[in-house]
Amino acid sequence: MRIELPREFERLGAVRIYGSQKIYELDAGPGSPGCGEEDGVVRRLAAESLYAVQREMVVVVPVRSERLKLIEGVLVGIPQPCPVIVVSNSPRAPIDRFYLEQDSIGNFCQFTRKPVMVVHQKDPQLAAAFAAGGYGEILGEDGLIRDGKAEGMILGTVLARLLGRRYVGFVDADNYLPGAVNEYIREYAAAFLLNEGDHVCARISWHSKPKVVEQALYFAKWGRSSRQCNRVLNMLVSHFTGFETDIIRTGNAGEHALTLDLAMSMPYATGYAVEPFHFVHLLEEYGGILPQTAHGDMRRLIKICQIESRNPHFHAAKGDGHVDDMVRGSLATVYHSPLCPDSLKEEIVATLRHLGCLPEDGLIPPVRIYPNLAQLDLEAFRTQVRELLERRPGAARGAAAGL
Ligand code: GDD
Ligand code: MG
Repeated sequence: MRIELPREFERLGAVRIYGSQKIYELDAGPGSPGCGEEDGVVRRLAAESLYAVQREMVVVVPVRSERLKLIEGVLVGIPQPCPVIVVSNSPRAPIDRFYLEQDSIGNFCQFTRKPVMVVHQKDPQLAAAFAAGGYGEILGEDGLIRDGKAEGMILGTVLARLLGRRYVGFVDADNYLPGAVNEYIREYAAAFLLNEGDHVCARISWHSKPKVVEQALYFAKWGRSSRQCNRVLNMLVSHFTGFETDIIRTGNAGEHALTLDLAMSMPYATGYAVEPFHFVHLLEEYGGILPQTAHGDMRRLIKICQIESRNPHFHAAKGDGHVDDMVRGSLATVYHSPLCPDSLKEEIVATLRHLGCLPEDGLIPPVRIYPNLAQLDLEAFRTQVRELLERRPGAARGAAAGL
């Protein structure tokens, strides 16, 4: 891969947000593993180096009622070295969609010998594992893991940690292009190669997200949600640096990857607010703005790397109501942060009103925030999961044996 080096970064305390990086070649040829060749502006990363990082990466695919063909396409795009964890929250009645997913993924694995673990978010044993680990906040009134993409991602992150790898990457199950999925994961690897350390986050901004406008393809760059989310996060950063910036391009990047050390040391926002809350949390905790908290160690540098992918992003359209929820959730993470100045609060209210997303009472509901994952007793969780896998081998396949 040939990738541009970041031209700029914003630094707040221990947080470094790098400007978006372009890809010049998806495959820039072989070479001995290492950190690539330097020419000041771009870096060539040998295929072997990218593979070496991928061997340390688990890929988590959150699924809720996606078409089986789409899920299979995503699995096709995930490079061979990465074990996969599919976390499904698909309904089990009246049709057991989870059974169909397991069946179809099992069939795929027979052809590829790919290690894919498939778990269900509502599995009582997984809920018991969180309860045993002292992380009951993720459980709903029914005692099971709550609905939501973030909730599935938290589960996937913990399972990835148990697999003993160094990195976790996320790809949505509704990606239409296997080639795009393949690119995202190679870019995660590139980010980890370029940024040494255990506190790195890689986020993808799409080069384009095509839509059909007047019977022709229009290669839009920003969606309604991402445009507003990035603007508000940039205003937050600008407020503290005193310089207007547009550095943040990946406010709600569903496609992102983290070092597991970082992923296991963060609190999470529910549902689709999970990605913008990464920025909000890291600035709160390590931005050097609020008085240092219990977890905030200012000496560890947190690097947020943003890469612009080349493949267009095609995914399943899920309607305007869904986007409204996403905008509201994203902006609420900033609005309710102790970092948010009054002027930005007013701007957020005005934005939501303009978009027709402000609730009638004019109040922006806070989003649920789960505690720092560092609070989870991993050994207690592991014990419960081992029982689950021994008792119900059909619930998980492939890499499950590695647990
Ligand atoms: N396990 C699990 N549990 N997965 C879920 C759940 C859930 O409750 N809800 C949704 N998913 C899965 C979907 O099946 C899909 O694979 C992925 O999570 C993303 O959900 P979508 O409903 O497709 O979200 P989106 O496409 O509108 O938004 C995506 O892109 C945004 C950036 O534009 C998401 O990744 C957002 O988080 C992201 O901000
Ligand atoms: Mg989607």
